[in-house]
Amino acid sequence: MAERVIPLVDQRLTALRAALPAQPVAATGLVADTLGRPLRDLRISVTDRCNFRCSYCMPKEVFDKDYQYLPHASLLSFEEITRVARQFLAHGVRKIRLTGGEPLLRKNIEILVSQLSELRTVEGTPPELTLTSNGSLLARKARALKDAGLQRVTVSLDGLDDAVFRRMNDVDFPVAEVLEGIAAAREAGLGPVKVNMVVKRGTNDHEILPMARHFRGTGIVLRFIEYMDVGATNGWRMDEVMPSAEVRERLASEFALTALEAAAPGETAERWGYADGAGEVGFISSVTKAFCGDCNRARLSTEGKLYLCLFASNGWDLRSLVRGGASDEELASAIGHIWQGRSDRYSELRGTMAADPGTGGRRVEMSYIGG
Ligand code: GTP
Ligand code: 5AD
Ligand code: SF4
Ligand code: SF4
Repeated sequence: MAERVIPLVDQRLTALRAALPAQPVAATGLVADTLGRPLRDLRISVTDRCNFRCSYCMPKEVFDKDYQYLPHASLLSFEEITRVARQFLAHGVRKIRLTGGEPLLRKNIEILVSQLSELRTVEGTPPELTLTSNGSLLARKARALKDAGLQRVTVSLDGLDDAVFRRMNDVDFPVAEVLEGIAAAREAGLGPVKVNMVVKRGTNDHEILPMARHFRGTGIVLRFIEYMDVGATNGWRMDEVMPSAEVRERLASEFALTALEAAAPGETAERWGYADGAGEVGFISSVTKAFCGDCNRARLSTEGKLYLCLFASNGWDLRSLVRGGASDEELASAIGHIWQGRSDRYSELRGTMAADPGTGGRRVEMSYIGG
């Protein structure tokens, strides 16, 4: 199957043009959506490609050698990304995360990092600049990323058992090289490093305790992610989801844990600390305990579409504004306008008719929109 799983016709572009105010409305840094949620976090996907084929994200049967990735010309350039990001910051964004696909596959990514690190929030401070990676290229790139201004990284790792991990990434990639990447990130000062483990019942849930034992006491924050029904290709089934409450019980069989306060409003992870002071773990429970209530995240796709939710079917085509001669003020005005109309809260509505209304279309893939 060589289909690109993204919406091809985007009527919301026309809607956007028609709905834009005649005169641009200046950004105040205080924009809020229809549910009163501010805009604080911008997740930028820099490539729709990845060198792994995790079955929950880019299953091999779909993302095969004939799969049509985005052509280079349709990708936003670093200058375009930086320009768009600047307008987001004017609306109150404080954190920028680079994602993919695998963001380190984008050539010269450190140049983008360096451009983004020059930007300032409305408070006049540099934005928090982070990146989520599968770790495969980190050992080679950590130092250059740090030097370019990256502050920290989050690395995905689904287990320590080599056979299990090789099967899950489905390209036979060894655990040891990801661990080297994590070590290189720490040495380069890209900390606190976080490790994301997607837990699939029956596939890697027996790796929960070994992962906890390995990372506790190291300063690395391990986070357990509930397997999500994102995209349209991963064959998601509820019986493969291991609820965070169950993961926590597993941990509690060996370690005493205490609940910690959230570090920032709208965070994805619930934090728990080891009672003996050996650090903390996180639980990202989009399926059993939705966190849409204060979701302040916007997503910019590789080709410059603005998505208001990880589970959206359509995005707003900012690239056409950027390449169509819009001024910075018009761009900022469009972003503000789109955010003010936002009512997305997919995880809270999951399982109800309202979650996938009418012909809303196929949900966009995570490798395209950014995790
Ligand atoms: P920190 O800033 O380090 O806390 O990172 P983060 O949790 O914001 O980002 P990360 O890329 O590590 O994402 C962790 C997991 O949470 C991934 O599986 C994401 O897909 C998922 N995730 C991130 N943001 C959202 C969101 O807005 N909604 C849902 N449902 N899941 C999200
Ligand atoms: N469910 C949960 N997490 C997922 N990720 C990718 N696909 C899924 C899914 N279906 C995770 C990756 C990475 C993060 C950005 O998203 O493992 O850690
Ligand atoms: Fe690649 Fe990350 Fe998706 Fe795995 S989860 S296929 S590493 S983008
Ligand atoms: Fe935000 Fe959508 Fe995730 Fe809810 S499901 S937390 S609205 S991205």
